[in-house]
Amino acid sequence: MSLRLGDTAPDFTAESTQGKIQFHDWIGSSWAILFSHPRDFTPVCTTELGYVARLKPEFDKRGVKAIGLSIDPVDSHAKWSDDIKSTQGHAPNFPIIADPEKKVANLYGMMHPAHDEVYTVRTVFVIDPKKKIRLLITYPQTTGRNFDEILRVIDSLQLTDAHRVATPVNWKQGEDVIIVPAVTDDEAKQKFPSGWKALTPYLRLTKQPSK
Ligand code: BEZ
Repeated sequence: MSLRLGDTAPDFTAESTQGKIQFHDWIGSSWAILFSHPRDFTPVCTTELGYVARLKPEFDKRGVKAIGLSIDPVDSHAKWSDDIKSTQGHAPNFPIIADPEKKVANLYGMMHPAHDEVYTVRTVFVIDPKKKIRLLITYPQTTGRNFDEILRVIDSLQLTDAHRVATPVNWKQGEDVIIVPAVTDDEAKQKFPSGWKALTPYLRLTKQPSK
């Protein structure tokens, strides 16, 4: 059965560009994003890996570790890193799993044979420090992912874990948030002393609380 939100991210051991990784130990008390790309030395993947490397300070700020995966071997990943640096300005500064036997790819449902029988599709898993899957997205091979959107979701997850709020459409850091319907107006007076604007009884907007 395929993985779903709230499931424990399966643990595994795999070789990577930064040595052998025991996945849960590697995550430790951080958040993690695990993302697959179809194969090395391909154009869309090259742009994605360079961009994820560029975003490292943003991931660090949020306590998130990134890890990539493709079914090519470690020496291929290492050679490809030079191209990523020369074309994107950033070499991968996170591990890339080598999964030639597709063990991790199959464990995480990254193989979609009707789309491609041999290579993985583009998946993204956001995993929290309790090792629960909090977001999963699957993209086709020909579409590069929007990693700014992944950061935006992580901001929402971390905020909504800390406060009884939800984030509205296209929300970004610093914008108003929604008080969840389970919070009564009486409780909301305590939790959100700066008040709120009720557009309907169930749609109450308040300033973003600090994390
Ligand atoms: C790419 O990363 O450029 C790519 C990979 C597989 C199919 C199409 C594009």
